Amino acid sequence: MSEDTSHFYVTTPIYYVNDKPHIGHAYTTILADVLANYNRLLNIPTHFLTGTDEHGQKVQEAASVKGITPKEQCDQTVVRFEELWKRLEIKNDDFIRTTEKRHTDVVQKTLQDLFDRGEIYKGEYQGWYCVSSERFLTEKDLTDENSPDYGRPVESIIESNYFFKMSKYQDWLIDYIETNPDFIQPAFRANETLGFLKKKPLQDLCISRPKSRLEWGIELPFDSDFVTYVWFDALINYISAVGYRSDESMFNDLWPCSCHLIGKDILTTHTVYWPTMLKAMGLEMPQSIFAHGWWLTGRTKMSKSLGNVVDPMEMIDRYGVDAFRYFLVAEMKLGQDASFTEEAFVKRYNSDLANDLGNVANRVLNMICRYCNNRIPPLPVLTTLDAEAGANEVLKAVEDAVTNSGDYIRDMKLDSAVALIMAAVRSINVYLQERAPWAAAKEGRWADVETSLYVAADALQRCAALLHPIMPEKMLKLRSALGVQELVPVLDKIRSFGELKSGLEVNQPDALFPRVEFKATELEVPKKKKKEKTMEPTTSEDGLITFDQVMAVQMKTARIVEAEKIEDADRLLKLQVDLGDEKRQIVAGIALHYAPESLLNKTVVVVVNLKPAKLRGVISEGMLLAASAGDELQLVSIGGDLPPGSVVK
Ligand code: ME8
Ligand code: MG
Repeated sequence: MSEDTSHFYVTTPIYYVNDKPHIGHAYTTILADVLANYNRLLNIPTHFLTGTDEHGQKVQEAASVKGITPKEQCDQTVVRFEELWKRLEIKNDDFIRTTEKRHTDVVQKTLQDLFDRGEIYKGEYQGWYCVSSERFLTEKDLTDENSPDYGRPVESIIESNYFFKMSKYQDWLIDYIETNPDFIQPAFRANETLGFLKKKPLQDLCISRPKSRLEWGIELPFDSDFVTYVWFDALINYISAVGYRSDESMFNDLWPCSCHLIGKDILTTHTVYWPTMLKAMGLEMPQSIFAHGWWLTGRTKMSKSLGNVVDPMEMIDRYGVDAFRYFLVAEMKLGQDASFTEEAFVKRYNSDLANDLGNVANRVLNMICRYCNNRIPPLPVLTTLDAEAGANEVLKAVEDAVTNSGDYIRDMKLDSAVALIMAAVRSINVYLQERAPWAAAKEGRWADVETSLYVAADALQRCAALLHPIMPEKMLKLRSALGVQELVPVLDKIRSFGELKSGLEVNQPDALFPRVEFKATELEVPKKKKKEKTMEPTTSEDGLITFDQVMAVQMKTARIVEAEKIEDADRLLKLQVDLGDEKRQIVAGIALHYAPESLLNKTVVVVVNLKPAKLRGVISEGMLLAASAGDELQLVSIGGDLPPGSVVK
């Protein structure tokens, strides 16, 4: 985050509406929400923007597959995002859709202005075009003069297009990044961008698409034969939503943005395209752009065809919104990749939420109801005895959490902030154990009972306030159970011991975080069933399998794009294959039959729903089909012109 505390304006990427949201989308949005809530806790005026990216090829294609219009595709999918944000307790101040007039107007005004000022020009774009797949290929895609998709010749075509003069800002951008170390975070991502910028001359950016190729976009105001390239359109959402060229006073209040949160996949668009666009518009740079890492399923990339994409709705149904938010925030070291498994989730839930926080909350509320007539006891004067029995430790741990968690959050070390707050929570449990108010009650030492329960309740409401940005629903419930009036907390009110008002009425809600058992997820169950079906011998004795069993095996065509030997494994090759909408790594025992380079661009058949496995420590996500006779082995391959990712059945 930034040092400027006059306002806090945070954004998430605007998500594509070609498919329903998954855990990655949920994550970035939760992260933004936590940062926004934290700034609200500090009483800083906060603006939190999210939204959807609705133009471009992806959305047009998703629509045409379903036989609906692109706008219908957008309208249907945007609801899924809005519903999820509601369930996740996301309190965004605005939601922008790039098909809204308030956005398209600004994009067109901006384009016209840049065009008038010579920042955009018409030029010729020479590229290798594959007519069969209707797309331009990059140099990387091209191994010879044939299209990798189809094995057919590609044509060099020249197409007129409009270009943004991005190249002229290369030196300025390098200098800007170098002199503003907080601009791109974490620092290694700044270095990544610098590496890219210093490697070779920056090209101008092609910002148009002829309507003959793509219709679904914002029309260029100066040439109706073209629509705007989707990224040039999408990035502008960060300013169109806050009044750029429409509401000057709002824009002046909110721009520059404090923090653009993004995933590492969209680093270049945000750290090269966007800053140069802003520079050309004469606008200030955002204060920071923070790229977080990837959520993996275990160690594997989430992908639709592997069936391992975590559905946030399912997790919320099973464990509740707050626990889900808590896990994501506590588990990921921001910047690095993190692994999501339900087993790890349940483990952390039980230890942090059920055992530590839930337990202390239950104990405190229960004992106040029992021994103090449902009222927060009087504010005690802490005696030496209390100090000996650990009250000082509790106060210190809570104070530490109050003062230092903020520094961690500003440094985007949210996992450390959580750890600090949870240490304070645990110190309350330790204190109660030592003071044993239940024993004091038995002996009739009521002053001791009241002191220890006041200390514990006060510490608990302060911890609940600090955890409120992460778990708003449950922490409101907890604070309300403690009788606190201002349910939405303010940091200034929890800075010191003794703010909890004596005499407040306490109630005991149901357990905040009941313990849960780890069961195989519904996500995994059907897969297991499927596996049993396919692996078990058939009930019949004729060795025949059923239609269902055949259909359980999913196969697709794939193009081999990389192949290499695996050290110390004579038979194995490590392959990277292109499945059309994703890349996979497959380890195949074919090294004795194929030289790696002979495999490049071969289209083969892959079983795609095989459980990933490690072979010699290398992850393999699928299996190639091959025919063998004696020592001979040949891969099953596909002739003709089916693109990679075609279903084999
Ligand atoms: O890129 N782990 O949209 P998108 C963590 N429309 N975060 C993930 C993730 C994962 N496995 N998968 C996705 C676009 N994300 C453009 C953005 S902005 C002007 C335009 C999150 O729907 C992460 O924030 O592909 C990533 O950057 C974003 O979703 C990509 O969403
Ligand atoms: Mg994406």
